[in-house]
Amino acid sequence: MAHHIAVYGKGGVGKTTLVTNISASLVEAGFSVVLIGCDPDGDSCSLLHGGFPIPRVSDHIINQTGITRENTVHPGFKGIGCIELGASTGLPEALHELERLHIVEQINPDFVIYDISGDSSFATLQSVIRQAGITRLFVATTADYNALHAVNEAFVFLEQYNSENRVPLPMGGLILNSIASSFEEAFVSDFAFHTNARTIGKVPRSQLVRQSELYGETVIQSRPQSNQSYYYRRLANQIVDATQTIYSGNLPQPMSDKRLRAWSLEWADRIYALENGLVTDGAAI
Ligand SMILES: Nc1ncnc2c1ncn2[C@@H]1O[C@H](COP(=O)(O)OP(=O)(O)OP(=O)(O)O)[C@@H](O)[C@H]1O
Ligand SMILES: [Mg+2]
Repeated sequence: MAHHIAVYGKGGVGKTTLVTNISASLVEAGFSVVLIGCDPDGDSCSLLHGGFPIPRVSDHIINQTGITRENTVHPGFKGIGCIELGASTGLPEALHELERLHIVEQINPDFVIYDISGDSSFATLQSVIRQAGITRLFVATTADYNALHAVNEAFVFLEQYNSENRVPLPMGGLILNSIASSFEEAFVSDFAFHTNARTIGKVPRSQLVRQSELYGETVIQSRPQSNQSYYYRRLANQIVDATQTIYSGNLPQPMSDKRLRAWSLEWADRIYALENGLVTDGAAI
């Protein structure tokens, strides 16, 4: 049976770059994958299609052009089934149509990956989780306060979701993206420690991501032998492990606004001490 997993996070933290490179790594490793873009921009699958967008399901609904497997699933790199749902208000209807026509079921992939825009409301996230039957939620972040604040909010949502639903939604883990230094890594790891979140993988910041994006490709396609590709492949392996491991019941615990503020101030003081030479890098962390 397919694993349905979602990647969520604040706008611009790199979700689409992550899901496309993870999908490419998974197909390379022999898994079958369907990637479903849940972003109104409809750009989730472009890097698997030479940089060109594919038609959105919501447009077929609006234009009444009819929905078929052929006009919905657009095979990308090594046969990844690419689907763009499209407009955020049309997401539930687009998902309903996929379900009604058994489109993903007929493909029967090993993994169905949902790229969920951080700009969408928690109500949208909730309806995608319920309708699509998401079994693991992965949250992507960069090492900055706003991105981590959004992660904390997502943990608040998850806590509420789990208290309202008989079947809790397991958190697959936190993915650190665009990490540029050990300081940034320590910053996010400390956040994870304080929120009881599991960090499952990290991806460094790299110019190869920008370069590949300009080629209209994932890094896996354009620079398969690079270190960056190795990081994406490792992350894909970690995701496979996380989805196949029986859920242990450890749920992330969001910090209160006051606690998050106090925690941020501690890190601001560390940066001050580092900048002013009061401590060296290791001592500050
Ligand atoms: N590891 C990385 N190193 C360098 N640049 C990166 C990395 N990951 C992502 N980027 C760049 O960051 C920008 C945003 O990435 P991306 O579009 O994947 O984010 P997103 O979370 O999907 O955004 P949105 O919420 O708008 O959909 C892109 O220009 C991408 O090239
Ligand atoms: Mg995106």
